[in-house]
Amino acid sequence: MSIYKKIAFLFLITMLVFIAAACSSKATEEEGAGAASCAPNCTYEDLVVGFLQTGSEGGWRAANTASFKETAEQLGLTLKFYDSQNDLAKQVAGFQQFIQDPEVNVIVMSPLEVTGWEQVLKDAQAAGKIVILSDRRIDGFEDMYATFVGADFVEEGRKAGTEMCKMLEGSDSKNVWELQGNVGSAPAIDRGTGFRETAEEGGIVVTKTQTANWSISEGKQVTEAWLKETKDVQGIFGQNDEMAFGAIEALKEAGLVPAEDVKIISVDATSGAFQAMLDGTLNVTVECNPLLAPQVYEAALAVLNGETLPKWIPSEESVFYMDDPNLQSIADGRKY
Ligand code: AHR
Repeated sequence: MSIYKKIAFLFLITMLVFIAAACSSKATEEEGAGAASCAPNCTYEDLVVGFLQTGSEGGWRAANTASFKETAEQLGLTLKFYDSQNDLAKQVAGFQQFIQDPEVNVIVMSPLEVTGWEQVLKDAQAAGKIVILSDRRIDGFEDMYATFVGADFVEEGRKAGTEMCKMLEGSDSKNVWELQGNVGSAPAIDRGTGFRETAEEGGIVVTKTQTANWSISEGKQVTEAWLKETKDVQGIFGQNDEMAFGAIEALKEAGLVPAEDVKIISVDATSGAFQAMLDGTLNVTVECNPLLAPQVYEAALAVLNGETLPKWIPSEESVFYMDDPNLQSIADGRKY
């Protein structure tokens, strides 16, 4: 074979290699950054999920954790569960641990706070890990996680504000106290924003607000301290059920009748809230759905198979009332 034919042949081979490489990289781009080698035929058995839970701060969180553990078993995927014990530094350390773990292909996080994630998100991307937010959003960096599965906390706050307006309609004074979740968290920030948006339209004034860290005991302590200062309160907004339960105890001990002398609204709609409404001590609870795992795992598998998803996958939620004639049967049908 002449030297020219050899050169032409070599040139042809080289060109074919380049075209093949270009084709394969284009496929990955088209299929999305998270595509795994099993894509597009990955199954739940190929999923190894590192889940960064906030901690175990109450009924809602217990239902959320159970949703992830039980659904993982049902689907046959591998779940590595990390309890951040409501400590941001521990949650960041857990994130880094999953980045280093060669088995983990998807990191799911329920962020304790909305900020502090830039570096670990960059590290996760560099390590080719898919990141999905569950339950709570973060500020910015949308291009560094595949999607957020969870509630619109602002809308939950708006619903609570609207219900408080209805209950305080015709009331001479409309002073409301707010028990907030942990400082810096999306639900604490957003529920407060949403509540004020609709409550202030109805002439409500939030005269006291403080974190009670999602807990019954702190909800009680904070409310007791406020009641020592004044009893001029017509409504209490507990950003979750547990803090509202604490306020109910404090009101009773102060000789006030919860849900009558002082209207009470909570967020979560756990079984405890239904019991409080059946007992006549809680007026309204705005649902925040903890059963997010099926949607999260479905999203994780889709991204593992190279799909690109919308940045927010909302969860379904309602509002429940103490004076609903069907309350008992609704409560009997609840999963959490
Ligand atoms: O992120 C959801 C919130 O976290 C729930 O409303 C609260 O109960 C939990 O601590």
